[in-house]
Amino acid sequence: MITPAGPLEGEITISGAKNSVLKLMAATTLAAGVHTIYNVPDIHDVDVMCRLLESMGARTERRDGLVEIEIGDLEPVAPFALVEQMRASTAVLGPLIARFGRVELGIPGGDDFGHRPIDMHLTGLETLGAQFEARPEGVIGTTPGLKGAVVTLAFPSVGATENLMMAATLATGTTVIDNAAREPEIADLASMLNKMGARITGSGTPQITIEGVDRLEAVTHRVIPDRIHAATYMAATGLAGGEVVLREARYDQMDMVCQKFGEMGVRTSPCRDGIWVMGRERPTAVDLSTLPYPGVATDYKPFLVALLTVAEGTSIVTENLFAGRFKYVDELVKLGAKVRTDGNHAIIRGVERLSGGEVVSHDIRAGAALVIAALGATAETVVLDDGHIARGYPDLAGDLRSLGADVRVSAG
Ligand code: EPU
Repeated sequence: MITPAGPLEGEITISGAKNSVLKLMAATTLAAGVHTIYNVPDIHDVDVMCRLLESMGARTERRDGLVEIEIGDLEPVAPFALVEQMRASTAVLGPLIARFGRVELGIPGGDDFGHRPIDMHLTGLETLGAQFEARPEGVIGTTPGLKGAVVTLAFPSVGATENLMMAATLATGTTVIDNAAREPEIADLASMLNKMGARITGSGTPQITIEGVDRLEAVTHRVIPDRIHAATYMAATGLAGGEVVLREARYDQMDMVCQKFGEMGVRTSPCRDGIWVMGRERPTAVDLSTLPYPGVATDYKPFLVALLTVAEGTSIVTENLFAGRFKYVDELVKLGAKVRTDGNHAIIRGVERLSGGEVVSHDIRAGAALVIAALGATAETVVLDDGHIARGYPDLAGDLRSLGADVRVSAG
């Protein structure tokens, strides 16, 4: 329940990145021993990844913002019951087949996973010498041993790049991933893998080279901050007005989106502890398209659209990564927004204020976008959320409250 309460003021600390920690946890399966990962966000998806690793025989322990993972001999099987809860479970595919020569991933119907295929993961691993078979219980992969090769991705997929990079660490010879994704979370994963003894160069660029090694070792690693959280609070500051500091946020990993916020009238700049944000005026309409990094990430889009609903002028937002990622628009319309979608475009005619109302959150980012949209509305809003927000945000409501917002959560 969000009651408009004026501008946001204060500081919050941005937690570790969900889309990094889940892959770092998957990477631990590459090496026996006790791994420690710091700056781990207290979110539901980390629980699911712990359960997944435990189901394979690992020991996990979470305390004080860290997770300790003890890896011994594992049964390389990711059961459907856990995989269906979280797409990031697919990140165990590459490391498991590389270390154990076989893997079973519980995906219904082979390679189509909720209309988000993993064909590039599978064909890339096949280029390295794996074989996959679609069975009713999921995808079964085997290999007599992976061999380095050149893999050119048809699209810079984040998940495929990560799976291939992890698998190639234990392959014989050299692997080159061409047209690799460049997201900061990939560089974070490469940095942990290199600490483990891998030989990876070029992460963060479109061409990653991996020299295979015989074995890797358990390490300690700190997760990078969540740039998607930081963007959530930037948009919140634009919607409610105010001035906030996002401690730990990394400006260098958010260049393009900060530039877009600037065009909209939300000022950002790097400061000693993180990023300073100020929203003092009604936002201005802008056009934008989502693109792989360093472009404006698709995950930022719901917050940007929420902000543009109250901008002066008309904006066109184009989604280039995922078809149909505009479900939350109908909910924004219930709050008085004037948005029309046409294929992968949303046309947003800015209104002065949203009106408040009752809306439903359909996924993590959409849920967060509805909460922040309501901050600047004229009346109270209720966001009905079936646990989506907790999958990705440790405490969205608490963070906003600490900045002066009136956001309450009630169970049931
Ligand atoms: N694609 C294929 N075949 C593949 C792989 C991807 O067609 O084998 C397509 C996808 O369907 C999509 C596009 O390629 O249209 C991009 O997918 P990508 O593989 O890059 O995305 P992902 O690895 O599945 C991660 C994040 C997403 C984020 C995207 C894009 C994680 C756990 N997820 O997904 O984040 O939207 O990259 O940046 O890292 C979220 O955090 O809420 C979230 C969904």
